[in-house]
Amino acid sequence: LPAKLVDRFGRVVHYLRVSITDRCDFRCVYCMSEDMVFLPRKQILSLEEIQFICRAFTELGVNKIRITGGEPLVRKGALDLLRQLGGLTGLDELVMTSNGSKLAQMAHDLRTAGVKRLNISLDTLDPVLFKTLTRTGDLENVLKGINVAREAGFQRIKLNAVILKNRNHREVADLVEFAADRNLDISFIEEMPLGTVDSHNRAEAYYPSQLIKQDLLQRFTLQAMPDKTGGPSDYFKVAGSDSRVGFISPHSANFCASCNRVRLTAEGRLLLCLGNEHSVDLKAVVRQYPGNMPALKHAIINAMQIKPEKHEFNIHEQPVILRHMNVTGG
Ligand code: GTP
Ligand code: 5AD
Ligand code: SF4
Repeated sequence: LPAKLVDRFGRVVHYLRVSITDRCDFRCVYCMSEDMVFLPRKQILSLEEIQFICRAFTELGVNKIRITGGEPLVRKGALDLLRQLGGLTGLDELVMTSNGSKLAQMAHDLRTAGVKRLNISLDTLDPVLFKTLTRTGDLENVLKGINVAREAGFQRIKLNAVILKNRNHREVADLVEFAADRNLDISFIEEMPLGTVDSHNRAEAYYPSQLIKQDLLQRFTLQAMPDKTGGPSDYFKVAGSDSRVGFISPHSANFCASCNRVRLTAEGRLLLCLGNEHSVDLKAVVRQYPGNMPALKHAIINAMQIKPEKHEFNIHEQPVILRHMNVTGG
């Protein structure tokens, strides 16, 4: 068996994003509809199955695993899983994306469990707007979580802000200032049309990265960073600080040519691209052949043959992709 996963376009996959639950204590307007129905428990992978699949990937050359959701920390046993994953041979980076709601209590345990870097969603610093955008979240609690995380000694903390026109677009410079004052990185994200949402019209809310950059240049000097990190973010250094500002621009700057990742959904579907439905049902494989590592690896290797070249999001049309981001693994 090859120790490397390569697709038809020569792209090497060494990054696995794992959604360990579709559940979340927030209902962000760009991610979910208000009446989101979550998956029945038996339909999602057990922690043992996730661990087994992650081991297969690391043995096939994956050296970075990002745990996402939903909100990963609402899943019981998340810390145990992380501790086990932290021990996988060949894994250089165990990282997590979180909405921050449980970090005040859990950040220190996460660090001890072996999580090296943390991405935390923060779309606004206005408590009322925060409530509007997350529907159920509490800004104060998330800010507390960010502070505790800063003390817990993560290598790097990155904030994520999805920018919607006429909601939070006027806040981008304040968000950068917040990040720079605290030595954090921040990425601005163009909303992606996954699943239907009921709070806004995505075409009208589209706010391109280029406009964000213009706004930021009024207050900051941004220095281009030649070293691409392999992620979709295009990074700039904020002059006079240690912080970086990233732009994730699925609409205005396609990054698929350098794609290095695949996703495992909470249901155990190996999704080869965020913006396409090409997938392989790994849950079926691990449940049909329990403990059979070669069978699982074959399924993963074969899956590389159907990884699509790129996503073709069109924000002006009804979403073609019906699954919401929380099922997908943001
Ligand atoms: P690192 O590269 O590890 O720093 O993380 P990241 O910025 O890729 O991950 P994060 O979980 O913070 O995700 C930020 C945003 O980027 C989310 O909205 C993701 O859905 C989006 N994103 C991550 N990977 C991809 C991808 O392959 N394609 C698309 N279209 N969006 C992606
Ligand atoms: N488009 C872009 N980003 C999204 N996220 C959730 N839903 C969407 C969407 N439709 C973001 C969250 C989180 C990250 C993992 O994905 O804000 O920061
Ligand atoms: Fe939850 Fe993240 Fe979706 Fe918000 S974006 S509802 S925090 S999964």
